[in-house]
Amino acid sequence: MQIAILGTGSVGSALGIRWALLGHTVVFGSRDPSAEKVLELLERGGPRCSAKSVKEAIDGADVILMAQPWAAAKATLASLGDLGGRPLIDCINPLKPDLSGLDLQGAESAAEQLAAWAPTANVVKTFNTASVKVMNQPQFGDQKATMFYCGDDAEAKTKVAQLIGELGFEPVDAGPLTSARYLEPLAMLYIHLAFKQGWGSNCAFRIMKR
Ligand SMILES: NC(=O)c1ccc[n+]([C@@H]2O[C@H](COP(=O)([O-])OP(=O)(O)OC[C@H]3O[C@@H](n4cnc5c(N)ncnc54)[C@H](OP(=O)(O)O)[C@@H]3O)[C@@H](O)[C@H]2O)c1
Repeated sequence: MQIAILGTGSVGSALGIRWALLGHTVVFGSRDPSAEKVLELLERGGPRCSAKSVKEAIDGADVILMAQPWAAAKATLASLGDLGGRPLIDCINPLKPDLSGLDLQGAESAAEQLAAWAPTANVVKTFNTASVKVMNQPQFGDQKATMFYCGDDAEAKTKVAQLIGELGFEPVDAGPLTSARYLEPLAMLYIHLAFKQGWGSNCAFRIMKR
């Protein structure tokens, strides 16, 4: 697949490098594609990675990952134009600056707000309930970390589930996009355990069934 990754921070760079090393074409969309941090990222990602402006990065992309802060998402999406029904992966946790809770600014969930801001995209919420450490290594012994995803478009979800699975997570379909109302607070539990309860970020959720 050709994957556009908007944002070259912790999440964008981790997932982008991993997908490129797995054989996908990755185009990073950055506010400054020639910045030193972006050039370093391209070196780590290898020949299947390139960087462009945010607007140019989505040209020809099969899937778009929004890996920017909540505060930047509205303006970025407004600048993109028609997304033609392509999957838009939303990994955003709409956190208060002190990490004490969610700051949804009146929305039911960040994912539903993104869908309203980008009505021509098919938003799939995922990657918000694990740390970057886990994104880099989702295998714990002989067990895979669970990665929940939700969205309203079956085709978009299938593509995103494939990308989740290729990284080594167990993808779990959490239902329609409204399930983001549960996945976003679940990330708060993760942050609470990792940072307030002292677990650190090398832990992950795993769901079991019988
Ligand atoms: N870190 C985690 O463990 C984690 C886990 C799950 C979900 N998330 C979510 O993933 C998203 C990205 O998180 P992150 O940790 O990768 O963040 P980050 O390291 O701060 O990177 C965000 C990137 O977004 C771009 N950006 C565009 N507009 C921006 C603005 N106004 N202010 C700051 N950056 C801007 C920047 O890339 P350019 O300079 O190239 O434009 C920046 O590097 C967030 O919404 C977060 O809630 C994070």
